[in-house]
Amino acid sequence: MAWPNPNEYLEALQNPQAVFSDPALRAGRVITDRLGLPRPISGNFAVVFQVETGGKTWAVRCFLRETTDQEQRYAGISRHLAAHRPDYTVGFAYQPQGIRLRGQWYPILKMEWVKGQRLDTHIETLATRSDRAGLETLSRRWGALMAQLRSDQIAHGDLQHGNIVVDEHGQIKLIDYDGMVVPSLAHLRSPELGHRHYQHPTRTSGGGITPENFLNIDNFSAWVIGLSIRLLHIDPTLWQQTAAGDDRLLFAERDFKSLRGAQQPTQPLQLLQTHAQPAVQQAVQQLAELARQESYLRVAPFSSADLLNGAVPLPLPPTTTPLDLGPEPTSAAPPARRTPPAQRPDSLPELSLIHI
Ligand SMILES: Nc1ncnc2c1ncn2[C@@H]1O[C@H](COP(=O)(O)OP(=O)(O)O)[C@@H](O)[C@H]1O
Ligand SMILES: [Mg+2]
Repeated sequence: MAWPNPNEYLEALQNPQAVFSDPALRAGRVITDRLGLPRPISGNFAVVFQVETGGKTWAVRCFLRETTDQEQRYAGISRHLAAHRPDYTVGFAYQPQGIRLRGQWYPILKMEWVKGQRLDTHIETLATRSDRAGLETLSRRWGALMAQLRSDQIAHGDLQHGNIVVDEHGQIKLIDYDGMVVPSLAHLRSPELGHRHYQHPTRTSGGGITPENFLNIDNFSAWVIGLSIRLLHIDPTLWQQTAAGDDRLLFAERDFKSLRGAQQPTQPLQLLQTHAQPAVQQAVQQLAELARQESYLRVAPFSSADLLNGAVPLPLPPTTTPLDLGPEPTSAAPPARRTPPAQRPDSLPELSLIHI
C-alpha cells in the first residue's frame, strides 16, 4: 500500500488526541490556517505541522515515503548529536509508531520548532535592505558553522535554504536531518541527493561515500551558499538582478552545468561573469573551478579565508579506493583532509532520544 499522502495526514491532524501516540502531542494544539484546518508545510520528503503543547512548539514531520534504514539512521544521528551537543541542531525524537491512520501506525519525527527566518527569506531581507553589515555577519557565521560541522564530524547531506533557519538571535540552525551522515552511518548509502540548485553535477547517486570522505558531502553546497552571501555583500542589487530566490539563492543547477561547459551560460550567470566589480567575477571563477571538479566528494571544504581572497579551491587528492556501493560517482576516489577516527558500528538497540 502507498504511504499516506499530505491530505491524509491533514485529515488525521484534525484530531491530535486520537492519532498521536506521544502524550504531549495528543494534548497539543495544531496550528491552523484561516479555514481552521491544520496548516501543512510541504517539503519533498515530509509534510510538517506545527503543534503547541505545554508552552513548547514542535515541528511534527510526517513522512511521505518509506525510507530504508530510517530508524537506524535517526538512532545513529541521535547518539552522535547527544555526544557532541552542537548548538546549531535542535532536539528531536524519532517515533516509529508516531501517528495512526488507516488503522496502522506510521513513524513521525517530533522536533523542536525553530522560530526564525528560512535562509532564503533572511538573505532576501538583508539584500533588499542593502544591509551589508548583516550580510557580513551572516557570511562569518556561515564559515564558522561549516568549520564546526567538520570538527563535530557531521555531514548534513542537504544544505539548502529550506533546511536552514536563522533564529531570532541571528544564529544559524540546521533542520531536516534525513540525509545527515555521522561516522557510524558512513558505510550506508546516502538516502538522498540534496536539492538540485545546491549540488555538484556529479552527485547523481548515494554511492561512493565512505568513512574517509563523508565529511566532503556538504562541501559544494557550502560554497554555493557562502559565495551567494559574499556576492550579495559586494553588490546587494544582485538579488533582484539575477531574479534570485525562486527555489534557489543566486545559482541554479543549470549554472553549475554551464560552468562545466555543458550548456550556454544563463542570463543571470552572464551578468555575474561580466560584472563591473572584479571581486564578483573572481567569486564566479571560484565557483566555476569547483563545478568543473571530477567529483563532489573531492571538492575542498568551504573556507572563509579562501572565499575572501579569491583563492581557487583545489580538488582534494584521492587517497583510498571507495567501497563499491553503486555505479556512481565513477572513478572518484575519496579523499579527506581530516580522517575521522574509526568508530565501531552502533550495536545498541534503536533509541529515540531527544538530545537536549
Ligand atoms: N524544526 C523546524 N523548525 C522550524 N521549521 C521547520 C522545522 N522543521 C521543518 N520546518 C519547516 O518545514 C519545511 C519542510 O521541512 P523539512 O524537514 O525540510 O522537510 P523535507 O524533508 O520534506 O524537505 C522547512 O523548509 C521549514 O520551513
Ligand atoms: Mg527539507
